[in-house]
Amino acid sequence: MKRWIVRIAVALAVLFVAIQLAPAGRTNPPVTKTLEAPPEVLAILRRSCFDCHSNESRWPWYAYVAPVSWLVVHDVDEGRRELNFSHWGDMPQAKRDSKASSMVEEIEGGEMPLEPYLWMHSDAKLSPADLKVLQSWSEGDV
Ligand code: HEC
Repeated sequence: MKRWIVRIAVALAVLFVAIQLAPAGRTNPPVTKTLEAPPEVLAILRRSCFDCHSNESRWPWYAYVAPVSWLVVHDVDEGRRELNFSHWGDMPQAKRDSKASSMVEEIEGGEMPLEPYLWMHSDAKLSPADLKVLQSWSEGDV
């Protein structure tokens, strides 16, 4: 093998090991007032949304391997900032109502769950029936 190929391979391997030492920043802070909703609503949200929108994230193995871990942590941090089911009850009613409507809109628009998440979690894709359940809930019918 050409010597430069070996050198590049060694350099990449060293770099890969070195970046594992940087803390990725995975956290699961305390849950204060978690969302209370009918079990069928919670089941859907826990399956498809809680990993990024709650403090109860289930961290997959690739969340432990840099540089992918940095991307995962970034999405979770941003997701929690926008909408965090672990603090749902701390929001005023009007805010909860508006968040519930944007949840349905985001799902209808195919924006949520995020596409890369679905590559690894095919079960997180919402069926039309799931969407109906969330729609009724957001309109206050359940
Ligand atoms: C892989 C992580 C991830 C998953 C899973 C995920 N989200 Fe998100 N979500 C984000 C990120 C990151 C943002 C902020 C950036 C953006 O809007 O794209 C966001 C933004 C949102 C917003 C916008 C908040 C606002 O008030 O405007 C809503 C609503 C939302 N998500 C709902 C959901 C719902 C409902 C699910 C489950 C069906 C879900 N998300 C699943 C990461 C995720």
